[in-house]
Amino acid sequence: MKKIIIALDGHSSCGKSTMAKALAKKIGYIYVDTGAMYRTVTLFALRNNIFNGAELDAARLEALLPEVSVSFVLDPETNLPLACLNGEVVEREIRTMEVSSRVSPIAALPFVRTMLTKMQQQMGEAKGIVMDGRDIGTAVFPQAELKIFVTASAEVRAQRRYDELTAKGESVTFEEILKNVQERDYIDSHREVAPLKQAEDALVLDNSNMTREEQNEWLMQAYLKAAGATCV
Ligand code: DC
Repeated sequence: MKKIIIALDGHSSCGKSTMAKALAKKIGYIYVDTGAMYRTVTLFALRNNIFNGAELDAARLEALLPEVSVSFVLDPETNLPLACLNGEVVEREIRTMEVSSRVSPIAALPFVRTMLTKMQQQMGEAKGIVMDGRDIGTAVFPQAELKIFVTASAEVRAQRRYDELTAKGESVTFEEILKNVQERDYIDSHREVAPLKQAEDALVLDNSNMTREEQNEWLMQAYLKAAGATCV
């Protein structure tokens, strides 16, 4: 079967990355979580006091950006990519509520998007990749052979995120998470550069009422069709 690019876009916390990881593992594709890349730049901004309280010093971030290296290493146990900031694994640090609540304004900065988009395009040069994000099917790979737009209601997504964070021991309330999900939806879909929107040729998957298995099966069928599988 031909190697293709699979672009998964959609709202935050709708299970895109879980589905994308499962598919990539099954079909032997590389998985790239582009949200992790925006989160890593955000962590850099927080650590360097570029994002202090409500104030974001965009000019300083732009000046320091050439010193920011965003990369991935494979976890030897799970074989899944772990995000690195200047060579340090920061997978855990980028998943906190602090980073989640600051990432959207950073992801709206055109110079940050230009840098990360270029990296993402290089990662997909050889195809055989499943990439999840917000603008993969519209801006990063408008020519992707398979584009999926995943969505679910804000309440369902907030509940999933709440369960995930509390399982990790973070002390959060459902209300603050719902607010964060709604705020991110708004900023992500209203920014000027590469806003979150469904590509015209994307298949839509609303998984509000689907089990994980049903979603994986749906995605596998979409992949087989796009990659040109034929029955013999
Ligand atoms: O998928 P996530 O929740 O980890 O993404 C974190 C943030 O990064 C989210 O608020 C939107 C932004 N993002 C983006 O603007 N473009 C992408 N391709 C991926 C994520």
